[in-house]
Amino acid sequence: MSEHLTVVDHPLVQHKLTLMRDKGTSTAGFRRLLHEITQLLAYEITRDMPLTTTTIETPMEEMESPILAGKKLALVSILRAGNGMLDGVLELIPSARVGFVGLYRDEETLQPVQYYFKVPKGIDDRLVIAVDPMLATGNSSIAAIDLLKEAGATDIRFLCLLASPEGVARMKEAHPDVQIVTASLDRELNDKGYIMPGLGDAGDRMFGTK
Ligand code: URA
Repeated sequence: MSEHLTVVDHPLVQHKLTLMRDKGTSTAGFRRLLHEITQLLAYEITRDMPLTTTTIETPMEEMESPILAGKKLALVSILRAGNGMLDGVLELIPSARVGFVGLYRDEETLQPVQYYFKVPKGIDDRLVIAVDPMLATGNSSIAAIDLLKEAGATDIRFLCLLASPEGVARMKEAHPDVQIVTASLDRELNDKGYIMPGLGDAGDRMFGTK
């Protein structure tokens, strides 16, 4: 993938995103829609995965048929909202290994602090897809990718539902090698770090908290 940012403007994605933004959408509906959109976004973020061929026999004859070349995949959920995107990708790529990065914001320094980090073995050999629905300030996403690189990852992509212009710019500056795939580049961040027009707090909406 060459462009730093890919906005998936497929009609199904845009339709489902409208339903997710709507504040009247239920917790169950929001979770279901996130699962469905994630699968459509995963289709896009994996579209250049390398193929090889294998020999199979159809009921008619033998053929050489395409198959994934075996670059191993690691999905990494940025806690907690990233968990809402995991199952959608895992249904498409069941053999993917899964990691988790947990960060909280230090209220004095406002910097992200790690409280959990666990990634699959051989992360340096895998295509890593980090998932988090909201690329807002970029602070936690950038910190999560810093940690993945410290652990040895070299081939990282970032899958989100919404991105802010500020978050995209900061990610590009910190990690120009990381491709971002999203359903929408929204207008701006507000002064509390929320994406506008956005959809509110993705974690609260998917887990029914607050
Ligand atoms: N995280 C969210 O869940 N929503 C935002 O708008 C920004 C960050």
